[in-house]
Amino acid sequence: MRLVFLEEVDSTNEYLKRVDFCHRLCVVAKKQTGGKGRRGKKWISEEGKGLYVSFMFSPISPKIASLSSLAFGVAVLNTLKCLDDRFYLKWPNDIYINGRKVSGILPELLSDRLIAGIGINLSYTEEELLSLEVPATSLLIEGISFDREKLLEKLIFEVNRYYNKLSKGMFDVKEFEKSCPLIGREVTVIEGNRRYTGRALGIDTDGCLVVESEMDGKIKRLFSADVSVRF
Ligand code: BTN
Repeated sequence: MRLVFLEEVDSTNEYLKRVDFCHRLCVVAKKQTGGKGRRGKKWISEEGKGLYVSFMFSPISPKIASLSSLAFGVAVLNTLKCLDDRFYLKWPNDIYINGRKVSGILPELLSDRLIAGIGINLSYTEEELLSLEVPATSLLIEGISFDREKLLEKLIFEVNRYYNKLSKGMFDVKEFEKSCPLIGREVTVIEGNRRYTGRALGIDTDGCLVVESEMDGKIKRLFSADVSVRF
């Protein structure tokens, strides 16, 4: 893995779109001026208060692309679980603790590269996270002590390990399912301006969340790009 460290950047994902293609390139920034979240949201990116990291990989088969969100979610979960056992996953790739989001992943698929951007809230205070749409937390707020460098090292190791699993066809979605309390529960699906409830039955081999709609009993396969799910 080649590493690039930056003091400041617009977004580590955008940086990787601009550089020449390079397999297994990782960029880490102390601060982002235009940190991006999923669905066009902003990602809070103040200096030193979070980990802002993006990875570039290739070759990318359609199978790797469809499962990468889940696999990298498990990679981040494993990284954080070294610090505390209470972290869990929320499909498709958010990491939660105590009902609040602590980390998110922004995967972006280009014609020649897959970029996976990972943000982990380290030392934000309650006040700094108050304005966010989704209830958010940080390691500091949760009282979890950490060593930034060690955490980064572990994250890079785990993301590489899960890319290797993906590329050998050895990533099993069960790894995700078992740390995702959404499964088996009543959920609310928000698809554009449509909203319905149902039961999350599991995750299929394409990485879709399978939900049985409460209204008509129909089984729906949800792609991460289109929906948000609450429980
Ligand atoms: C989400 O909405 O949950 C995804 C958040 C992803 C944030 C990370 S921080 C590093 C990388 N650069 C970005 O601009 N976004 C991702």
